[in-house]
Amino acid sequence: MDTKKLRAEIEAAITAIKTIEDCNAFHQKYLGKSGVVSGLMGSLRDIAPEMRGAAGAEFNAIKRDTESRLFKLQEEIRVREINEKLMNDARVDITLPDLGRDVGNLHPITRVLREVEAVFGSMGFYVEDGPEIATEFENFESLNIPKNHPARDMQDTFWLSNGSVLKTHTSASQNRMLKKYGPEFSAIFPGRCYRNENLDASHEMAFFQVEGMMVGRDISIANLIYFMRQMLAAVFKKDVKVRLRPGFFPFTEPSFELDASCVFCDAKGCSVCKKSGWVEFCGCGMIHPRVLEMGGVNPTEYQGFAFGFGLTRLAMLKYGVDDVRVFNSGNLEALAAIK
Ligand code: PHE
Repeated sequence: MDTKKLRAEIEAAITAIKTIEDCNAFHQKYLGKSGVVSGLMGSLRDIAPEMRGAAGAEFNAIKRDTESRLFKLQEEIRVREINEKLMNDARVDITLPDLGRDVGNLHPITRVLREVEAVFGSMGFYVEDGPEIATEFENFESLNIPKNHPARDMQDTFWLSNGSVLKTHTSASQNRMLKKYGPEFSAIFPGRCYRNENLDASHEMAFFQVEGMMVGRDISIANLIYFMRQMLAAVFKKDVKVRLRPGFFPFTEPSFELDASCVFCDAKGCSVCKKSGWVEFCGCGMIHPRVLEMGGVNPTEYQGFAFGFGLTRLAMLKYGVDDVRVFNSGNLEALAAIK
């Protein structure tokens, strides 16, 4: 077999190819099952054994070269044919803007959470995740809430059969944070919390909180107020005032309830703020010395603030949603309408 001649023949045939049909015909003639190149392989057995190796290698090279030439050419022709079709087909106007198909939305809770994480992140806070299940120690004892303490009744707890709980508040991660990062750090840790509540427009059994802590030397409530105002301004895109009222939590001393000026009426008084100009926003305070101690931080040297706010509530305020149940409803249309 004169392989030089065959190569020349193949070259001529490839050069003559103009269309995809030509490609197909070429493939059938040379590379198909009963094509010329396949025939070469079959002819190997008629070649003297000592020449077979070299001939086989050459046949294989011809096969490979021919295939790769053809595939490349096929691709070029395909692109060219598509372009020609687009140019000549008057019904397809490739300059039209696209139809703006709906590609889905992020859940409103996710959207606010990302804003909250971005603003705290930019102020040097770690953003941490936490488990949904907490031990009794994490959820209560480590927060200075001993067994039989009335504060345990404030939170209708879902108990698991092994004595752990579905965490009733993100404070359940305070002890872990202190041990992991103490004695000087700032962190927020958002998470889903569970309470055995009767469902209504403002209570869900599963809701989100964001907890924050800042621990170090010379930390005060003034720092807390500053960070809360920064966060509220970033989420509501306007200046939001805050005020503190005395509160009670076993894990903070002193404890406060923080109110935000009503974003709906700019504190003039409306139905959301019940004409007071203020909405309750979160619990907070200076971390109780016992809590620091249980987290391995020396309370005579270090102190810190902690806060925990309802992310679900923040989303309701931001988007003007008056029924919390829509967030867990799985009603995609209603969720997409929350802008
Ligand atoms: N854990 C409290 C709650 O769920 C909020 C809180 C967090 C209060 C941190 C003070 C400090 O209501």
